[in-house]
Amino acid sequence: MPVIKLLCTTLGKTLGFFTVLVVFIAATLNYFEDSETVKYTSMAEDIKTLEENFRQQNKSCFILGASGETGKLLLQELLEHNIFSKITLIGRRQLTFEGKTYENLVQEVVDFEKLDDYAAAFQGHDVGYCCLGTTRAKAGAEGFVRVDHDYVLKSAELAKAGGCTQFHLESSRGADKKSGFLYLKVKGQVEADIEALGFDRFAIYRPGVLLVDRQESRPAEWMARKFFSAISAVGYRSMSVPIQEVAKAMVSNTVLQPEQKTEILENKDIATLGKSAGK
Ligand SMILES: NC(=O)c1ccc[n+]([C@@H]2O[C@H](COP(=O)([O-])OP(=O)(O)OC[C@H]3O[C@@H](n4cnc5c(N)ncnc54)[C@H](OP(=O)(O)O)[C@@H]3O)[C@@H](O)[C@H]2O)c1
Repeated sequence: MPVIKLLCTTLGKTLGFFTVLVVFIAATLNYFEDSETVKYTSMAEDIKTLEENFRQQNKSCFILGASGETGKLLLQELLEHNIFSKITLIGRRQLTFEGKTYENLVQEVVDFEKLDDYAAAFQGHDVGYCCLGTTRAKAGAEGFVRVDHDYVLKSAELAKAGGCTQFHLESSRGADKKSGFLYLKVKGQVEADIEALGFDRFAIYRPGVLLVDRQESRPAEWMARKFFSAISAVGYRSMSVPIQEVAKAMVSNTVLQPEQKTEILENKDIATLGKSAGK
């Protein structure tokens, strides 16, 4: 039938056009791709040995944002790798878990508007992970700054005062305190303010678009995810990362020994570390 034939030809041409377009965009972006900024000198070492050494030290950690997409996976990874003798979740609500795996978890429910009243929740942890964050669409500009800067910084301050020596912050690609974009400016500012606290070790993760099937509806982010999934499928990986790789990278990086006190893991570093950890 001519109509069906015409339809098939048109569809084929459209698909072909989009494939060429995606490959072209990926090749162009590849040209400008970030170079790897962090060199994992210890990567050759057996990560399992490093984990075992770390485990022997009976350290404890806390997670901020464990109910979120990254935080959830980070918790799973930490439980699976069992590198801490105690894990505390600090959040604004009690989370429900079922099964033996979770029975040793400690939960601290705090009011982020009155964090000073909850200083005890931040005491006695060796390592802190922060996957906290909201969006401007959800909280408004002021609310976004409050959560992504004020809550995060205050938590880091209390943790430092409570003895925490290692802080891992999930920030964002392009974070820059001088940026004209509120999102990137706030992310850059909180990075700088936490660095000034002087943790023995401060790891900043700057993922691009997080590739995750998010339950919450965020249409703009959904479109960006679809686009970057297609781009990353043809080899360009600087602007997005599967969320599992972020969680894996955060756990592996905890047991590595970086040369600097503050390290910045760009999207590509996160993907490299997250993938090698998954092997
Ligand atoms: N989405 C991306 O593509 C992308 C890309 C790069 C970087 N990042 C950054 O990565 C981090 C984690 O992102 P995600 O997508 O995994 O996070 P998410 O799923 O949105 O989860 C955010 C977490 O923050 C908590 N939170 C939000 N508003 C809060 C408030 N007002 N008071 C107390 N807690 C609050 C949430 O708690 P409840 O469950 O109680 O709400 C949840 O645990 C964020 O800082 C984000 O900006 C995201």
